[in-house]
Amino acid sequence: MDPMNFSRRNFFALAAASATEFRALMAQDRAKVGMNVLSTRPEDLEMPLSGFSDYITPIEHFFVRTHVYVPTVNLNEWRLSIDGEVATPLTLTMDDVKKLPAVELVSVVECAGNGRGFIDPPVPGLQWTNGSVGNAIWRGVRLADVLKRAGIKDSGKEILFNGADVPLGAMQDFRRSIPVKKALDQNTLLAYEMNGVTLPVKHGFPLRVVAPGWASDSWVKWLTNITVLDKEFDGFWMKNAYRKPDHPIAPGSAMPPEKMIPVTSLRVKSVIARPVDGATVRLGEEVNVQGVAWSGDKGPIASVDVSSDGGRTWKPADLDPRKSQFGWRLWGFSFRPDRESYYNVMARATDASGDSQPFTQEWNPSGYGWNVVQRVGVNVVESPQTTMQGSMIIPAQQSIPAGPYKDACLTCHEEDVIRQQRLTRAQWDREITKMTNWGAPVKPENRDSILNYLVQQFGPRPR
Ligand code: HEC
Repeated sequence: MDPMNFSRRNFFALAAASATEFRALMAQDRAKVGMNVLSTRPEDLEMPLSGFSDYITPIEHFFVRTHVYVPTVNLNEWRLSIDGEVATPLTLTMDDVKKLPAVELVSVVECAGNGRGFIDPPVPGLQWTNGSVGNAIWRGVRLADVLKRAGIKDSGKEILFNGADVPLGAMQDFRRSIPVKKALDQNTLLAYEMNGVTLPVKHGFPLRVVAPGWASDSWVKWLTNITVLDKEFDGFWMKNAYRKPDHPIAPGSAMPPEKMIPVTSLRVKSVIARPVDGATVRLGEEVNVQGVAWSGDKGPIASVDVSSDGGRTWKPADLDPRKSQFGWRLWGFSFRPDRESYYNVMARATDASGDSQPFTQEWNPSGYGWNVVQRVGVNVVESPQTTMQGSMIIPAQQSIPAGPYKDACLTCHEEDVIRQQRLTRAQWDREITKMTNWGAPVKPENRDSILNYLVQQFGPRPR
């Protein structure tokens, strides 16, 4: 079967297929997915669009997000400590954790910055397109059961998580807190398994937080410490990062972090896996549109509507029978174009609360929560030209001149994270300050030349 035709028919067939057929279809789909590397070190990997055909995302396609280098954890030495506003502080081994009742659930995990690469004007950060999201089976214990054993005092308001990862330079350690209410939710887990296997190192071995419906900055990996606090944690990763305005603000404007609120719930969203933007289809053939949809606290998905005429008219898509409260839902829709034309295909998901995807981006300074209706163009023609597939020209690696920029900026990470940015002078200025605070050795006499170089090489997109 032509992999490009792995479409609606096929994924509905999956539900009914025998285990062998199912594995064959999955294996075939898996073979063609290569991850997009956004940063080699620390490692940040994105799943390409073709990965959105799976109900459960295989681990080898699962996006990877690391702020710093991955820690190596020795399970014999590993302990989970629970302290702070509790009656009985605890130190647990993995055996102790596994004595608690095991719980399994399917949930999407999505990076808060997924879709940042589409935001205009651009903002600093990893320039994710669609693929910093995946749907997995998580198995572990309820965080509530662990907290019950320690006994939260009345003064306990927030639950702070810390992992075994070690900050680079003068960065603050990555620590995040969530409100007690979310922590005690029966769906909030500490997971030791993902898709039926021991949690992989890149995904937080041996234990990670699973906060279904919430962006992945709350899903702390390599968990070692839980501290019950009497207020929201006041470290960098709560008070400066992962914050957004509580209403849309003018594109390009700034807002001080203290005026913003923490990123929490995901928002209703759909992704079109097929056809890809710019695909050519022969007149008379069916166009099979296929994708996934998910939401956050207000989920699950209630419906997905598809338009083939740029949003003038909409029809409901078919929803795959497999569903769960926090997992994503595969959907499919097909139509037979009756004339040569360029069809603007769009998908719009609505969740159980009635919330639907917006048509216009709500800009925010860090580019969180992108969930705009996606559009792909399909060219329907009488006789398609055969085009070269996959002949990507990979530009030669430019050699980076030795000097202050290289010395100051390319020690903790490679140039890949820098090269993908399109920032104004003011934004680059703030990035240099951020990195200098983290320990980048920017000598005062070199700051201007580094800034000029960054603006010249990686300045705003031409208008
Ligand atoms: C002390 C280590 C260190 C040095 C030196 C350093 N960086 Fe970074 N930088 C990081 C880390 C760690 C990240 C990833 C943060 C994350 O993933 O949240 C990062 C991320 C970035 C990003 C992605 C956007 C963001 O803010 O996360 C840019 C752009 C960047 N660095 C630019 C620079 C420039 C320019 C310099 C030189 C002036 C520099 N870095 C020097 C540690 C460093």
